[in-house]
Amino acid sequence: IAYSSRRFTFAAAHRYWVEAWPAAENERFFGRLTVPHGHNYALEVTVRGPIDRATGMVINLTELKAIVNDTVIERFDHAALSADALFRGRVATTENIAIAVWGLLVGKLGAERLWQVRVWEDDTLYVDYRGEDEAPAP
Ligand code: NI
Repeated sequence: IAYSSRRFTFAAAHRYWVEAWPAAENERFFGRLTVPHGHNYALEVTVRGPIDRATGMVINLTELKAIVNDTVIERFDHAALSADALFRGRVATTENIAIAVWGLLVGKLGAERLWQVRVWEDDTLYVDYRGEDEAPAP
């Protein structure tokens, strides 16, 4: 079994805001993060599987690139994530972005092959998601 990863980037905006909370509570908890702002995100998608004898690959990495570009990057690049239906009732944190990316990709790649989604918000912060947990209730 080998694990192959491919890195992608997208620029997107978000704000931290829990709809069910009063404004003062949001501002107390999230501070300046309640103000819409942008990040240059990086996304690393890892697939696992046996190495195909003929191709020497776990997955056709060109195919992986096309799937992630079509499914995730087209949707998230230069987008307001907090306005995307994926984040309705769910704060567009790095954690929830990783869960959303997993949800977009698992149907295309299969749960057997999709091993990990890593989302970097910046050089200092990343979240790994491997699909073990239920997504949080909205
Ligand atoms: Ni932010």
